[in-house]
Amino acid sequence: MKTVTLTMPLDMHVHLRDGDMLKIVAPLTSYTFSGALVMPNLVPPITTKEMVKEYRSRIKAAMESDDFEPYMTLFYQNFSREFLESVQDDITAIKIYPSGATTNSQGGVVSFDIEPMRETLEAMSDFGIVLCVHGETQGFVMDREAEFMSVYEKLAINFPKLKIIMEHITTREAVEMLDRHPNLYATITVHHLMITLDDVAGGMLRPHLFCKPIAKRPHDRDALLKIALQAHPKVMFGSDSAPHPKHAKESCGCGAGVFTAPIALQLLCEIFQEHNALDNLQAFVSDNAQRIYGICAEYKEVVLVERDFVVPEIYADVVPMRAGETLTWSIERVD
Ligand code: NCD
Ligand code: ZN
Repeated sequence: MKTVTLTMPLDMHVHLRDGDMLKIVAPLTSYTFSGALVMPNLVPPITTKEMVKEYRSRIKAAMESDDFEPYMTLFYQNFSREFLESVQDDITAIKIYPSGATTNSQGGVVSFDIEPMRETLEAMSDFGIVLCVHGETQGFVMDREAEFMSVYEKLAINFPKLKIIMEHITTREAVEMLDRHPNLYATITVHHLMITLDDVAGGMLRPHLFCKPIAKRPHDRDALLKIALQAHPKVMFGSDSAPHPKHAKESCGCGAGVFTAPIALQLLCEIFQEHNALDNLQAFVSDNAQRIYGICAEYKEVVLVERDFVVPEIYADVVPMRAGETLTWSIERVD
């Protein structure tokens, strides 16, 4: 049977939540990943050094293994240079959300005018703190990401030393933006490599595939696939695994988020194998992220085997993507 060994897989965009949900999902991520960039959109959002430290401790306590590093983030505010200097060793990145763009983003920014952000972004450049961006405007839902490209350009030009990550990109426009500025990078989810809007709403509505940014058109998915499969040096895997309780997804007013943490590596093997690109998977799920972020991940070896895996219908209270379906790759062991 065919096997693939991945060393130190990293998930550079994950939602681990807090409380009971953290206890459900954290062990699923820490089982197969060496580390993950943990999003700060809790209620209330993570905005102080104490909150970062306490959240990190709760994550560590919820893990079932010690060989996992939660890379912590702050929820963007116009932080002072003094504050950033004091917190630089506790965080890896700061995540900026446009206000109201997605789940728990109400405290995000209302404008991307440069001047009010200058002190913060210059200090982040100086301290090597990465800026992760949820890049969507308030426009028509299918155009929000493409319309945001001018903001990425403005940020990249004004802060050339700042590493800027275009999070969970979903469009051809974002793929084309990647090589225009040396300080722009991107994460790509596994679901956006697989689905388009048709899968979400083209037939029966499938709430478990509803997320922000919404899945786009076939040509967008193909553009994402192309750079992921070649493990373009400026892209890395970020699942954006975003658990919501079953009742909140299967309801009127379904929350945005797809839960993929326990099946992400299996799905990636399927996709990369289908396109004869398994040799590039290691770079996509680990090497690129380590280089872009300058991190040295905890040692972990994950062996996957080409053997059927039936996805559980539910993990405690959370329905995963592909629930009840059979995947063609399984986790064989983790060393
Ligand atoms: C995320 C969540 O639920 O926190 N939802 C999502 O659809 N991706 C937030 C986000 O990353 O946009
Ligand atoms: Zn996210």
